[in-house]
Amino acid sequence: MGTVERFVDEGARVLVGDVSDGAGAALAAKFDGQVAYRHCDVTDESQIKALMDEAGARFGGIDVLFNNAGAGGAPNRMADMTGAAWDSVQALLVRSVALGITYAIPHMKARGGGSVINTASIAGTQAGYGPIAYSTAKAAVIHLTRVAAADLARDGIRVNAICPGLILTNIFTPAEAVPPGLATMIKQTMAQSAPNTQPIEKAGLPADIAAAVLFFATEDSAFVTGAHLMVDGGLFVGPRNSWDPEMRQERTRMMEERRATFEAAQAQDAQSG
Ligand SMILES: NC(=O)c1ccc[n+]([C@@H]2O[C@H](COP(=O)([O-])OP(=O)(O)OC[C@H]3O[C@@H](n4cnc5c(N)ncnc54)[C@H](O)[C@@H]3O)[C@@H](O)[C@H]2O)c1
Repeated sequence: MGTVERFVDEGARVLVGDVSDGAGAALAAKFDGQVAYRHCDVTDESQIKALMDEAGARFGGIDVLFNNAGAGGAPNRMADMTGAAWDSVQALLVRSVALGITYAIPHMKARGGGSVINTASIAGTQAGYGPIAYSTAKAAVIHLTRVAAADLARDGIRVNAICPGLILTNIFTPAEAVPPGLATMIKQTMAQSAPNTQPIEKAGLPADIAAAVLFFATEDSAFVTGAHLMVDGGLFVGPRNSWDPEMRQERTRMMEERRATFEAAQAQDAQSG
């Protein structure tokens, strides 16, 4: 939604596909004339094709495709992974991106080229940021971005990815799993702690993602394809002690404490022969 708002500000015409029909209709009503909404479950190939064909028909082609739909999906660890859990996450997060690109291609070619932006995640680069199936899917999105970029360069189509870090959205409080009161509480707690999660001391917001998407959408990034951009306030740079001075002090204190203990043990050994 944040990206739609930014693109509207920039004068774009947008067709939004989602399964959240109430929010989609409200968005279309808010930006009547510039934004249209169409129900599209991105796990359904025919619905993806219908969405791309509608965009092509409405606009005389497609300039920009933002493959962004997603959810945390199955939380299974390796020991209790199931085929169904695995497949549902890959269908939502990877196959949807691949098919989105496939069905946008003729409409981008009609415009002489275009720009595809895929939402991956910091979870696709390191362990510890999401469930196993989700993280694997996001890593696949990063590589799909590279191979699609290579495949489509001759058609004038660029393909790039963004890797959000922690961004305050609804993804952590899915309506089907978290009751509204608890969701509000979780959101408030996250908003308070988010600025301390990464080196840049502010909460990551949808507007931060929108700015990156806009960069990849425009000619400002004309010489960039196959890239993935971390939009994470620096979260990727390393463990907390590498960027938090207080944590560094604490680590130094602990190291000194350990050295003192070690030296005391050595001295005791020497005394006792
Ligand atoms: N918020 C974060 O911290 C974060 C971090 C890394 C990556 N991401 C990625 O960013 C993207 C956007 O997520 P968000 O954080 O804005 O969460 P969000 O829950 O606010 O938005 C996700 C949207 O995807 C839609 N969606 C879910 N399943 C769908 C389906 N089958 N078909 C069509 N639409 C579907 C939802 O209805 C919702 O509108 C996702 O791909 C997510 O994995 C988010």
